Amino acid sequence: MNDPKIVPQHVAIIMDGNGRWAKSRGLPRIVGHREGIASIEKVMSSAGSLGVKILTLYTFSTENWKRPKAEVDALFTLMEEYIDKKADKLKRDNVRLSVIGRIGGLPERIQEKLSRLIAETSGNSGLVLNLALNYGGRTEIVDACRAVLRDVASGAVRPDEINEERFSEYLYTKGLPDPDLMIRTSGEMRISNFLLWQLSYAEFYITQTLWPDFDGAEFEKAVKEYQDRIRRYGG
Ligand code: IPE
Ligand code: IPE
Ligand code: MG
Repeated sequence: MNDPKIVPQHVAIIMDGNGRWAKSRGLPRIVGHREGIASIEKVMSSAGSLGVKILTLYTFSTENWKRPKAEVDALFTLMEEYIDKKADKLKRDNVRLSVIGRIGGLPERIQEKLSRLIAETSGNSGLVLNLALNYGGRTEIVDACRAVLRDVASGAVRPDEINEERFSEYLYTKGLPDPDLMIRTSGEMRISNFLLWQLSYAEFYITQTLWPDFDGAEFEKAVKEYQDRIRRYGG
């Protein structure tokens, strides 16, 4: 790989195309979701060896509740299985788990398992696996505004003290640097309510590859393309 200095620190991924992957094989959508978990493993391992520090994965959006209940239930069952099966491996691999989104809106059993694993991996110093769950960019900004207003009302902060930096501390991503690279699989040219604030100057990489077909080599390809980009930040 190129200059390690410009390996993106934070990569955010819209893992899309599971349904189409399954449909093209005449299989139920959930088979595509299950297959997508294998891609997560491959990408995590590639990200780790390239020196990426944070991987944010769009796992369930605030809009995904619009899907048929059977699909939503199956997605949560898969999530639960994933946590149960992978907890030990995540701990062994020194991964630190974190989550962003309206976590309180998730099924309770998932919330419990997540908070346990977050606590158990909180001391780890390797890759940060940040899962966007019941996440919406607009909801995040609204939640941040509410928190700012509460702090203003209580006198903890004055309106004129709120600037971009202070505002960022009210977002779910508090403490994390903005993504350098945003990958979307399956070719859709849209942001779908993902990290609206944080992606202001991220480099976008969109591939036709469907998420279940995305692997370590594809991830490296995206990073390589990122390394050839010139980031101007308006300058
Ligand atoms: C992404 O795949 C996974 C989630 C949104 C949970 P999709 O389920 O959106 O797959 P397509 O886009 O219908 O192919
Ligand atoms: C975005 O994919 C959400 C996740 C990958 C979790 P969607 O499939 O929900 O997005 P749209 O509907 O194509 O915009
Ligand atoms: Mg989709």
